[in-house]
Amino acid sequence: MADKSLIAAAVAALAKAYAPYSRFLVGAAMKDEMGKVHAGCNVENAAYPEGTCAEAGAIAAMILAGGRRITEAAVVGGGEGLVTPCGGCRQKLREFGAPDLAIHVCDETGKVKRSFTLAELLPSSFGPENLS
Ligand code: THU
Repeated sequence: MADKSLIAAAVAALAKAYAPYSRFLVGAAMKDEMGKVHAGCNVENAAYPEGTCAEAGAIAAMILAGGRRITEAAVVGGGEGLVTPCGGCRQKLREFGAPDLAIHVCDETGKVKRSFTLAELLPSSFGPENLS
């Protein structure tokens, strides 16, 4: 079952998104190992590649607050398709999440369209263990 407060945080974050170029608003939220929820939104830039994804913002907020593990994640966005994390964000999630991490992909109202595990989105991944 998806955590309602986690999804509500992602929906609230979407409303703060800065996306004047794509006009595609995204919100994300991460629950940490203490049960605290950290949210982020996409922040675009006139120099397009400098824009950052909602997931990246939420992960940065979690780290700043002292969280070190992601135990549940939510991404909210509009459109017909599934707003799944981009490739780079899958790797960012991988740094702090276990293979069975649940990632809820929701519409902009917070309705869960589909939930994935991190391992489904990023199989055979490279991570911190490779370097130890
Ligand atoms: N975006 C996210 O923030 N997260 C996703 O999971 C998919 C895409 C953003 C990046 C860019 O600001 C806009 O959506 C369009 O790609």
